[in-house]
Amino acid sequence: MATENKYKSEFIEILKDTGRENIDYVIEDLEDLGFFEAPASSKNHFNFEGGLVEHSLNVYKIAIMLKEQIIKLRPDIVNRIPDDSIAIAALLHDVCKADIYKKVVKKVKNEIGVWEPQESYNIDYSNFPLGHGEKSVIILLRSGLDLSDDEIIAIRWHMGGWDLPFQSSEMIASNKKAKDVCPLLTLIHTADTLAAGILEGK
Ligand SMILES: [Fe+2]
Ligand SMILES: [Fe+2]
Repeated sequence: MATENKYKSEFIEILKDTGRENIDYVIEDLEDLGFFEAPASSKNHFNFEGGLVEHSLNVYKIAIMLKEQIIKLRPDIVNRIPDDSIAIAALLHDVCKADIYKKVVKKVKNEIGVWEPQESYNIDYSNFPLGHGEKSVIILLRSGLDLSDDEIIAIRWHMGGWDLPFQSSEMIASNKKAKDVCPLLTLIHTADTLAAGILEGK
């Protein structure tokens, strides 16, 4: 069953390896929210059961790969992108999606024009309508996870420019500054873009 798949075990193992206090509560809350069954999107990348945990692992693996190459060119930056912060930010950036996808059966036409039932997802934000990265941060803090400033910035702004059209001018300025002060943000945003756009592309 998808709920007990290898991605879930790998995800939990990496999270626990960070040694963070209250990580068991975070995992318990993710279970309750449906994180391990959720897709990564309704129509785009990894829109199948368990897609969200697999996507989160992909972001983590890409971020670690990128870090290894970047520190060869900029060894001085290594302490600003520690492995445990990459694990926390990459694996947990999209926990806001855990409770928004509802499984539905829709009728779609097959290749020969016959309507047949097909499982897909509708999106419903009503459980906790807070936005995206900011919602992830709040869920994690409520679970008792002591996030660093950089981890909060990286998770909150991981969408980069994608959600800026919906922000006030102060938020846009804040997003710009976040990129200047937090290399972890650029790493997570880039890894997320590569995971969704290339690794998980159709
Ligand atoms: Fe996201
Ligand atoms: Fe993502």
